Amino acid sequence: MERTFLMVKPDGVQRNIIGEIVSRFERKGFQLVGAKLMQIPTNLAEQHYGEHKEKPFFGELVDFITSGPVFAMVWEGENVIATARQMMGSTNPKDAQPGTIRGDFGLTVGKNVIHGSDSPESAEREINLFFKEEELVNYSKLM
Ligand code: CMP
Repeated sequence: MERTFLMVKPDGVQRNIIGEIVSRFERKGFQLVGAKLMQIPTNLAEQHYGEHKEKPFFGELVDFITSGPVFAMVWEGENVIATARQMMGSTNPKDAQPGTIRGDFGLTVGKNVIHGSDSPESAEREINLFFKEEELVNYSKLM
């Protein structure tokens, strides 16, 4: 079963929309297999956003993601990586459709409420950066 890494960013946590976001993925039919509220250390933020190292906004990105608690999650389900990206909407909230998370709750590209893995490779990398295998649950015996 496919897994993805999703994270409510500090702006989403501060605005008390963790429940709203979790609820959208639950209602869609995905299963939450891991979650933690945490403050990201700088070295983890730099690793997580390593592909943006050369971008002019890299410093701002790391400063923001480490500025307050985030809610890190692993979700499982059919085609969850692409579907979660659709449900999140465009990276820049000004381009995101109403009905998507960023379209409904985001205002700026920096404070865009949620992060989600963009491919199977990044999902595996990001899940392993944030979670140990024993922190993830297994529902298969119930089904
Ligand atoms: P995310 O999906 O977490 O992955 C990289 C992040 O970089 C992206 O969401 C945006 O929040 C952020 N980002 C992209 N472009 C800019 C920009 N021009 N200025 C600040 N942050 C940006």
